[in-house]
Amino acid sequence: MTKPTDIRKLMRPHLLDMQPYEGVEPPEVLAQRAGIPADRIVKLNANENPYGPSPKVADALAHYTAYPIYPDPEQRRVREAIAEYADTTPDRVVAGVGSDELIDLLMRLFLEPGDGVVQCTPTFGMYASFAQVCGAKLISVPRDELFDIDVAGIREAANQGAKMVFIPSPNNPTGNLVSEADVHELLDTGMVVVVDEAYYEFAGSTVASLVSAYSNLVVLRTFS
Ligand SMILES: Cc1ncc(COP(=O)(O)O)c(C=O)c1O
Repeated sequence: MTKPTDIRKLMRPHLLDMQPYEGVEPPEVLAQRAGIPADRIVKLNANENPYGPSPKVADALAHYTAYPIYPDPEQRRVREAIAEYADTTPDRVVAGVGSDELIDLLMRLFLEPGDGVVQCTPTFGMYASFAQVCGAKLISVPRDELFDIDVAGIREAANQGAKMVFIPSPNNPTGNLVSEADVHELLDTGMVVVVDEAYYEFAGSTVASLVSAYSNLVVLRTFS
């Protein structure tokens, strides 16, 4: 018998105590827990479309023939279509596997271990999870009593060296929008400002038009 290895000793130490992100359980698991059939479960907490995709999407997927071919590494056609939808140019668009992947890539692009990244709590949980994976310093700047962001608090964090801030607009879970004036103030600090517009289609308010003017602004959208 070979000696058992304490595999945890080989892991990156800062990940050993990481709080796992609690994803949304599938209907079968919830059904089993509640002791009812899965078809009686209605999940309202993951912002899922209960009607499924458009029949046009199902048809396009069923008739697509290039599945065995690696996709275009430069995502040309989808970036062109997204650019048209978002009123921008394809060179300013990156497509990811959900915006979660883009949040992860942005942190890996900008954050060294120990670098500061700001979230405005209460907010979407993935920023904290990915920051922990990077070994970044997560700075939580609480929102005010109306759940609006504390611009002065974020600027203070930037003065102390924080490199990035993530602001969902509308915010998950409070629905607050960020004003363009506040975004300008944050951009002027020079930090990377990520405005996560995952819920843009519910609110119609966007700062996407500022992207061409500021190299430190990133706007995220999602098909979810
Ligand atoms: C604010 C916000 N951003 C991003 C995401 C993740 O989106 P996606 O499904 O595209 O990874 C969510 C999902 O809950 C979200 O609430």
